[in-house]
Amino acid sequence: MAIIFNEKNNQFYLHTKNSSYIIELLDGRIPLHAYWGKSLKNMPPMGEWKSTQSATMTPVDTGMPWGQFACSGSLPLEYPAYGTGDMRETAFLAKYADGSRTTRFEYVSHKIMRGKPALNGLPATYGNETEVETLIITLCDAHTKLVTELYYSVFEKYDAIARSVRLINNGKSNVLINKAASVSVDIHGADGMEFMHLYGWWARERHIERAPLIEGIQKIDSKRGASGHQHNPFIALLQKNADETYGEVYGFSLVYSGSFEAGAELDIYRNARVTAGINSFDFGWNLESGSTFQTPEAVMVYSAEGLGKMSRCFHSLYRNNLCRGKYQYAERPVLVNNWEATYFDFNEEKLLAIAEKAKQLDIDMLVLDDGWFGGRTDDTTGLGDWTASPEILPDGLKGFADKINALGLDFGIWVEPEMISPKSELYRRHPDWAVRNPDYTPLLQRNQYVLDLCNPDVCEFVIDAMTKVFSSANIAYVKWDCNRNITELYSPLLGDRQKEFSHRYMLGLYRILQTLTERFPKILFESCAAGGNRVDMGMLCYAPQFWASDNTDFYDRVKIQEGTLTCYPQNTIGAHVSRSPNHQTLRRSNIEN
Ligand code: GLA
Repeated sequence: MAIIFNEKNNQFYLHTKNSSYIIELLDGRIPLHAYWGKSLKNMPPMGEWKSTQSATMTPVDTGMPWGQFACSGSLPLEYPAYGTGDMRETAFLAKYADGSRTTRFEYVSHKIMRGKPALNGLPATYGNETEVETLIITLCDAHTKLVTELYYSVFEKYDAIARSVRLINNGKSNVLINKAASVSVDIHGADGMEFMHLYGWWARERHIERAPLIEGIQKIDSKRGASGHQHNPFIALLQKNADETYGEVYGFSLVYSGSFEAGAELDIYRNARVTAGINSFDFGWNLESGSTFQTPEAVMVYSAEGLGKMSRCFHSLYRNNLCRGKYQYAERPVLVNNWEATYFDFNEEKLLAIAEKAKQLDIDMLVLDDGWFGGRTDDTTGLGDWTASPEILPDGLKGFADKINALGLDFGIWVEPEMISPKSELYRRHPDWAVRNPDYTPLLQRNQYVLDLCNPDVCEFVIDAMTKVFSSANIAYVKWDCNRNITELYSPLLGDRQKEFSHRYMLGLYRILQTLTERFPKILFESCAAGGNRVDMGMLCYAPQFWASDNTDFYDRVKIQEGTLTCYPQNTIGAHVSRSPNHQTLRRSNIEN
């Protein structure tokens, strides 16, 4: 049994192969984080070992069993909610009908089950009854009747615990959720630890950075509507001298592709509170009476044997229990992509010449990149008009795919379905489908706008348009691109609920990806976003392969591959070779060395 409830001490033990995570119910009411580290079979109740000294200027709860010394300002709360004395980073903040922002979650019940429930509408890890066990702790605010279910799914073999939170509004009034983190955990004795994350930019993604954990809050985030080139949704806290094989490491990875936040606050008690989830900046979810809200999933891994062990745990978990479909384990095709060879300057003849050469080199597949549809001869037109341009492919997509197949190569294709060009037939018909604030001239990025995926009609259009493309020819691979971030967040459908935009966009995208990947199980989907602008575990759940970067320089790529490997499995990271001198860096290289 990975999960044990010790009734006498009111403690939950979550055991993995090499670690334990312990939660204690203080007075049977308040879930506290008691321990996370090397395996520990028995732990005395926290009241017997924790210093209960109240700090000056800290409010106390006189109803607590430890009397006036038990102040929530110093307790390691398992899911800290704002307003009742804990003034550190909060996991939860809401506004109630009377304007109050006070939430007091207390224990109601718990359930331990084999397996793992799916997360409604969101990507998540999965596992059968022998692979994973789940603890669900139900809390409730007695006044507002807001219920919170804390989910802990223990993947014993991989020293990993997947966490998420489900909110259920059992009250009579609507509740405005301003923050609902996927994970909050107080790491005790964090003095001298380091904060590690993966930072970058276009063509320089996921470089490893480590810095000493300082008093206060250290945080990374994205406000882009995608996880972003700048900060990957992964952080780790690690022992100062930890390296690949030595030291304690606590790793956190979000299974989410939208705006996120992840950080740690080191407090005066030398606890580091790690919080991660949807970015609470510009977030507000109107939780109607009787409805539920599901947070994305966060996965925590503990390693006492350095970063290498942590990486291997993430790799195994994500390869075996997140990726799915035909290509989960299958060897990936070697492909030639025409983008850097031609950019927009190509016709069928040029493409066939590339394909013939590729066949001689024993390459498996030709991928036709941007510019094959909607009269798109440069990046100013055509996004949204998903029919092949006759001047480029005179026999259509099917005719061209057949010619490629006849040469003995598989055929793959590039699409950018979330976007719309102002110069397109789609825009002429549906200008209101482009994300924009009606009071401002919309910003362009790469001459394009983003489609409003908060609108179910737009999602249906994308599903339908892509279904037509994917079934029109013998397509074995799809490169799903996304070349701009979202600005002027506004959907006419959302009325005064605009702060739901970012998350609703992601829910729309996930629905589209779920439908299409189920509908086309034989296609290998590769996700790309101007290179690596949306490399995250959310996308990995649907597309088992990333276009890791637009930087194909052999030297730069070593750093990008190394950073990406921190938590992404090797077989999910596309690797490129391109011509010399390199198009991005002008560096010369030689395939022999
Ligand atoms: C993005 C991708 C490139 C290429 C172009 C096409 O930048 O990262 O690989 O597909 O779009 O426009």
